[in-house]
Amino acid sequence: MSDRFYVTSPIYYVNDVPHIGHAYSTIISDVLAREARLRGREVYFLTGTDEHGQKIEQAAKAKNETPKAYADKISGEFKRLWDYFDITYDRFIRTTDFDHETGVQKAFEIMLKNGDIYKGDFEGRYCVSCETFWSDSQLLEGGACPDCGKPTELLKEENYFFRMSAYQDRLLKWYESDENLILPRSRRNEVIRFVQGGLEDLSITRTTFEWGIKLPKSADDPKHVIYVWLDALMNYVTALGWGTDEKNTRFWSNATHVIGKDILRFHAIYWPAFLMSLNLALPKRIAAHGWWTRDGAKMSKSKGNVINPREVADAYGLEQFRYFMLRDVPFGQDGDFAQKALIDRINSDLANDLGNLLNRLLGMAEKYFALNIKAVNLPRFGEEKKQIDALIASLDPLFEALQLHRYLEELWKIFAIGNKAINDFKPWEKMKDAKADQVAELLVFIANLLAKGATLLSPIMPKNADLIAKALGIAINAPTRKALIDQGGWIASFALKAQEPLFERVDSLRLAEAPTATSAANEKSGLITIDEFKKIEMKVGLVAEAKKIEKSDKLLLLKVDLGEGKPRQIVSGIGEFYAPEALVGTQVCVVTNLKPAKLMGYESNGMVLAAKDENGLRLARPDAAVANGTPIK
Ligand code: MSP
Repeated sequence: MSDRFYVTSPIYYVNDVPHIGHAYSTIISDVLAREARLRGREVYFLTGTDEHGQKIEQAAKAKNETPKAYADKISGEFKRLWDYFDITYDRFIRTTDFDHETGVQKAFEIMLKNGDIYKGDFEGRYCVSCETFWSDSQLLEGGACPDCGKPTELLKEENYFFRMSAYQDRLLKWYESDENLILPRSRRNEVIRFVQGGLEDLSITRTTFEWGIKLPKSADDPKHVIYVWLDALMNYVTALGWGTDEKNTRFWSNATHVIGKDILRFHAIYWPAFLMSLNLALPKRIAAHGWWTRDGAKMSKSKGNVINPREVADAYGLEQFRYFMLRDVPFGQDGDFAQKALIDRINSDLANDLGNLLNRLLGMAEKYFALNIKAVNLPRFGEEKKQIDALIASLDPLFEALQLHRYLEELWKIFAIGNKAINDFKPWEKMKDAKADQVAELLVFIANLLAKGATLLSPIMPKNADLIAKALGIAINAPTRKALIDQGGWIASFALKAQEPLFERVDSLRLAEAPTATSAANEKSGLITIDEFKKIEMKVGLVAEAKKIEKSDKLLLLKVDLGEGKPRQIVSGIGEFYAPEALVGTQVCVVTNLKPAKLMGYESNGMVLAAKDENGLRLARPDAAVANGTPIK
């Protein structure tokens, strides 16, 4: 294994603020970076923003801002979020950075010189939303984009083309070179089939808008800007100094790109072809994760159901969120964000299985040994130790194949062995029998198991792993990993430290539910969720005063005592059915949280409930008196 490791997240378009899909790409990249560092490898982790192109130009225009000012703002939001999330990136690149722009122009120059770029006429359909060209055969009915379904536009312009067709065979050979090249493995076949279907040359410049990198001076063609995907993909090498100072290009020899499945084609076809043209090494792994939906529905700004990752982290804990995302969904598959699932993971996996194990260890160690535990040897747990060693051995290949949900599943089996060992061993009985030595051995065994487990958990939950380590009196770092994991070492004694419980149990949802769940249900069946119903506040009130509103047959002006001190003024359309004097002193049911409205010049602060059929209208009332202000549920 090379001792250098380069990991990249996608660079995010700045036409939208960060959501959990973006956070997912970044968190996976962060986990890979942290794991590699823990193995003592020299790591470079790149993330950033993709700022050029028609889509961004349009988004800026809609906000009446210059593209750069607009990009500055949203790019800043991404960067701040990753900082808030303790994402351990080495560089946050922006495609508007000078060294990046210089590198992209250099790449264009090389490709132009070596004959991979030529000038021709382009006619075809373009999806601005995906920044993708489509051939007629790929389009959906009516010319819509096959990826996002939005209408495409017909482009007719003089363009520069990249000779993609020349790379078909070399690409196909490359896909065969390593079965872990494209992850999950099932996606590799998709790419192969696509390339076998034939590659067309790719239009790589545009003249219809301006917000992009200009062609190099040597091309002497100022009308054109470089196509956003050539620009964007190049970030992976320009960030390392390719085309400028070459400072970090040594990392390029071992690159892993973490991306979403929607941008696999750009990474597995365009990108390696560009690299081949530039005579650069190819990435070692392209890992494509699935998409997140919310309560079963696709997230989108227009539906208003986009989840803000910061809110989730604030409500449930950043590392709880990281754990959930990685544990709950098999890598490569789509996942659904439901708070209930997140809460279940927190309560059962984190609070119960892991948190309690540490509490039990610390509790007994304190009670029986004043936190200092020492074992003469650990023959007693030979069988368990063997199981643990076997589990640990199974983790490496899972991590390598990015099966992080399986990795965590297996890791949790180690904690389960610990909990079971305590239950079976019944240390409290052994203490009564004056077998303290044996109990000390058990506790040393558990402490070891937690030390190993925390080390292996650290890339995913670094802060909590460090808290466990602190309680165990150890530090998680490359030498610890080497000793405890690679060399399978066991520690003979621990000076433990007390530690507050790691994970608070969660009893109820902490974020508002998605509006989509309701609106989708509404559209289909007219049903609403209980949470939507709960938004309506209703109370019983006593009509203290009532009179007719002049010039109106229907409207009455009521003063209703809702137990609020001062009666509320409510305008009610029941005048044809009830005389004012018949209402005074009786109780009615009122919707109390309606926005105030003005009727015939009078402000109304609520609505009296009634049932109406062809025979007339009857007020809804409690069938016996209750206190004024009693809520109706
Ligand atoms: N700018 C390009 C990437 C260029 S990389 C050289 C881009 N940007 S993006 O902002 O639209 O998307 C960035 C990443 O976020 C992609 O990996 C995409 O898959 C991911 N996600 C966006 N929405 C998502 C979900 N709802 N769920 C999971 N990930 C999704 O594409």
